[in-house]
Amino acid sequence: MSLSEDLHKRRLAAVARGVGSTISSYIESAGGGTLTDVDGREWIDFASGIAVTNVGNAAPRVVEAVRQQVERFTHTCFMVAPYESYVAVCEQLIGLTPGSFEKRAALFNSGAEAVENAVKIARHATGRQAVVVFDHAYHGRTNLTMALTAKNMPYKHRFGPFAPEVYRAPMSYPLRDGGLDGAEAARRAIDVIEKQVGAGNVAAVLIEPIQGEGGFVVPAQGFLPALAAWAAEAGAVFIADEIQTGFCRTGQWFASEHEGLTPDLITTAKGMGGGLPIAGVVGRADLMDAVHAGGLGGTYGGNPVACAAALAAIETMRELDLAAEARRIESILAPALAALRDEGVAEVRGRGAMLAVELVRPGTLEPDAARTAAVSKSCHEAGLLTLTCGTYGNVLRFLPPLVIPDGDLRRGIDILSSSLRNN
Ligand SMILES: Cc1ncc(COP(=O)(O)O)c(C=O)c1O
Repeated sequence: MSLSEDLHKRRLAAVARGVGSTISSYIESAGGGTLTDVDGREWIDFASGIAVTNVGNAAPRVVEAVRQQVERFTHTCFMVAPYESYVAVCEQLIGLTPGSFEKRAALFNSGAEAVENAVKIARHATGRQAVVVFDHAYHGRTNLTMALTAKNMPYKHRFGPFAPEVYRAPMSYPLRDGGLDGAEAARRAIDVIEKQVGAGNVAAVLIEPIQGEGGFVVPAQGFLPALAAWAAEAGAVFIADEIQTGFCRTGQWFASEHEGLTPDLITTAKGMGGGLPIAGVVGRADLMDAVHAGGLGGTYGGNPVACAAALAAIETMRELDLAAEARRIESILAPALAALRDEGVAEVRGRGAMLAVELVRPGTLEPDAARTAAVSKSCHEAGLLTLTCGTYGNVLRFLPPLVIPDGDLRRGIDILSSSLRNN
């Protein structure tokens, strides 16, 4: 029995079945563009732990910053005894996010927690309750964020009742929109909001600038700015959920920048911490500061070790210009994916190092989830770690670490191409 098989046996007897894993090999070490399992087998990493290790796994600056911080102190709770690094991370969020208006930030532990807090802030500041989200959206797995998330299986099934005052509007999904452009798709969504919710009731319009779990859906150009303009007009808070798209992933620091958006609030997590759990809400000072003292927080939010990691990760992104590295990855991966168009690929989409292919039955737009699962499995068997996503389970998504060397990227593309051709 291999070491991984042995660990898997232990896992089945100890870890709840509801916690899944993409592969059943157990990782011993990781760095650059690869992961190595306990049996010495190497995997090319096209997952980055779901868009987290943008700076690479065990990135040198992050390791050193964490080491130094754990030697100084590990926890005081910022709400009890504050420390400099929390303030410094907030300053970084303020400086890096789009919008030159006065901002404030607050730190949390996970993406879902950041989204929950953005909604709390929007509701408190506006005195309204309704939150508008979109088809195919993913915002997390806590009770409120399950309500905000669109997909039933596996995220919501039998976990209700869900939080109230959440309304779903149609997303711009160019492949499946029958030619609607961004302005038309926004009109369709706004019509639903105005008729079914009422502009004056909307606390927040919450949207991923490029949808993550929902299928790497890039809305048609103009959709996001039209929604943001409507929200401003309606007195609603426009929240961009940049948890998956943020921190250089799409070739800019934040995906909102591709269309010149300046969201009122932005939620961040994942890539921000270089692998340690940290999340943030950043945005308009008048909204953030509307909440009474003590209304935001949590025991671990902005833990000093996670803050040290975040500062080191941000420094790495800046120094290595990882937004440019995301564009380098796109320049290699996007044409390679485009060359697979006649392999049942209906669309290649995404930006930067957040790219995907949507698989359909030939000559139709019918999602081919079974083939997507087969291609993914064959990639795993050949040593390429890929992820699937999408409401219909028919999207293969690619999220390599932004420091992946060209050689690993090309080896990964070769595995993917032959897996697509043979399945
Ligand atoms: C856009 C988006 N929002 C929120 C979340 C939830 O983040 P977390 O898993 O850290 O709670 C995710 C996670 O995949 C995400 O992609």
